[in-house]
Amino acid sequence: MKPQPANPPHPLLDYHATSFTQGRMDFAWEALTDAERAQAYADWAAGKGLIGGDPRYRPGAERLPPWGVNRPFFRALALDDPQGDNGARLRAALATPAPLEIEIGFGRGDFLLDRARRHPDRIFVGYETKTKATRLCLDRIERFDISNLWLSDDDCRFNMPRVIPDGRVEMAHILFPDPWWKEQHRVKRLFSPPFVDLLAAKIRAGGLLAFKSDVAEYGELVRYLVEQHGAFGLHDPNLAQRLGEHLPTHREYWCRQHGRPVSAYYFARSA
Ligand SMILES: C[S@@+](CC[C@H](N)C(=O)[O-])C[C@H]1O[C@@H](n2cnc3c(N)ncnc32)[C@H](O)[C@@H]1O
Repeated sequence: MKPQPANPPHPLLDYHATSFTQGRMDFAWEALTDAERAQAYADWAAGKGLIGGDPRYRPGAERLPPWGVNRPFFRALALDDPQGDNGARLRAALATPAPLEIEIGFGRGDFLLDRARRHPDRIFVGYETKTKATRLCLDRIERFDISNLWLSDDDCRFNMPRVIPDGRVEMAHILFPDPWWKEQHRVKRLFSPPFVDLLAAKIRAGGLLAFKSDVAEYGELVRYLVEQHGAFGLHDPNLAQRLGEHLPTHREYWCRQHGRPVSAYYFARSA
């Protein structure tokens, strides 16, 4: 593939030099046994694997950080913090009929910022557990005067059940999630049976789940978990058209520059 310029001339993009590495390539998975499936639900119920731990045990979790007050930022446990009207404004936005798209793990936010700018008639919610990345993206939301995008640094697995109404999501984008190679870190891996239950609850009938990864085996695991769930149709590459034009994420841009293959999967939520 022809190498692309390091920084394309686009006012929104920030694909500056990166420390991405090829990563290890020993992602193995097998169909889950009943015991493994039961373990995944038990871990989920116990809040195991939440990035940054369970917010319910964090002192002051019901208060917004000062830098987030009256900005398009939210945390599940701080929705009613009287310091700002973040919660009220988010609830009002979610109560409108505007289609809602979410991105989980937006990283630098290039895909999400571009998408929010292209579709002012939609609402966007981005989850990114790295607080620093979330703050940088908040700054870019303001710099580019984007008014239809909300961010949270909560783990989406904790936040979505508490904040996003069932059947509200038109499209969910999960792009290049961390593979969590090591056995002891697997519980942090996003895709598991209860996570697919969560997506099935939040995505409306006919809505779209889009997934990309440069770890081919992660894509295979996702396809297995989603297709055997029952709430989604089979992967259909034609569904990609529903996204329309969009920019790549930072990781995807890096993959293109380095000729690294990307797997993409698209599933429609069944009626
Ligand atoms: C490998 S990076 C990819 C970032 C971006 N999507 C891209 O393609 O450039 C995965 C991101 O997901 C975030 N993340 C991981 N688990 C998460 C979770 N449970 N909720 C929200 N964000 C998460 C990580 O902090 C990390 O920034």
